[in-house]
Amino acid sequence: MKAEQPRVVVITGGSRGIGRAVALAFAKEKAVIAILHYDPDEEAAQETVSLLARQGIEAESHKVDVSQKKDVDRIFSQIIERHGGIDVLINNAGITRDAFFMRMTEEQWDAVIQVNLKSVFNCTQAVIRNMMKNRRGHIVNISSVVGQIGNVGQANYAASKAGVMGFTKSVAREVASRGIHVNAVAPGFIETDMTAVLPEKVREAFLAQIPFGRMGTPEEVAEVVYWLCSEGASYLTGQVIHVNGGMFM
Ligand SMILES: NC(=O)c1ccc[n+]([C@@H]2O[C@H](COP(=O)([O-])OP(=O)(O)OC[C@H]3O[C@@H](n4cnc5c(N)ncnc54)[C@H](O)[C@@H]3O)[C@@H](O)[C@H]2O)c1
Repeated sequence: MKAEQPRVVVITGGSRGIGRAVALAFAKEKAVIAILHYDPDEEAAQETVSLLARQGIEAESHKVDVSQKKDVDRIFSQIIERHGGIDVLINNAGITRDAFFMRMTEEQWDAVIQVNLKSVFNCTQAVIRNMMKNRRGHIVNISSVVGQIGNVGQANYAASKAGVMGFTKSVAREVASRGIHVNAVAPGFIETDMTAVLPEKVREAFLAQIPFGRMGTPEEVAEVVYWLCSEGASYLTGQVIHVNGGMFM
């Protein structure tokens, strides 16, 4: 693929929240955008597609459970065949299944590890050969401040997000010689559906830990993700960039 062609960008969890904001950030450069999601219905995904259409982008949306390797392989092969390759992968899909560790079930543990960590393995494996062949590519994995500092009730989530950090650094070392950048962004407390369900007490406790005294917006995370995939970040790989209003320094 020639450099002047639009970049092909795949964003998991692109129907809502941070993933949608990332998709809209890539609309600036008229990229070819594919969003993956696993919402029960198509409403949010279609809204993202419409928002992108307003920016002149004809985006595609696929409903796929990114924790399932076979399904991921099938969708990514289709995207690579249709567009000739994938230049950018944003591993953003994620879930929470919070419980105090004493009461955490095996199902809660497995679900979070599968969707937040196994998916990163699945999607990265699905693009890496193509990126290595093209000798370029950007992968940004969405981790969390919780993967760094831990959180009560989130042993499963913290383990998955710490796993994402270790994965990022290892794969970054393996593929740097092929011109592929692999970085992570670790958001703090961001206004999305994921945090909208938190009880008021938990929100207040979070806010008390944030020097900026407010939640972040999906756009504030998306700007950093986008920058990591730009020329300005040409000498960065294997980094975890924290976007958290000072919550962890
Ligand atoms: N919101 C926060 O405060 C916050 C903080 C730190 C990290 N994060 C991380 O950022 C990412 C995005 O979070 P968000 O707040 O925008 O979440 P969200 O709940 O608003 O959106 C989640 C997205 O992931 C998709 N998804 C869920 N399970 C999936 C599956 N099995 N297969 C494919 N797609 C699936 C959903 O369809 C949706 O598009 C997640 O990885 C999350 O852990 C969020």
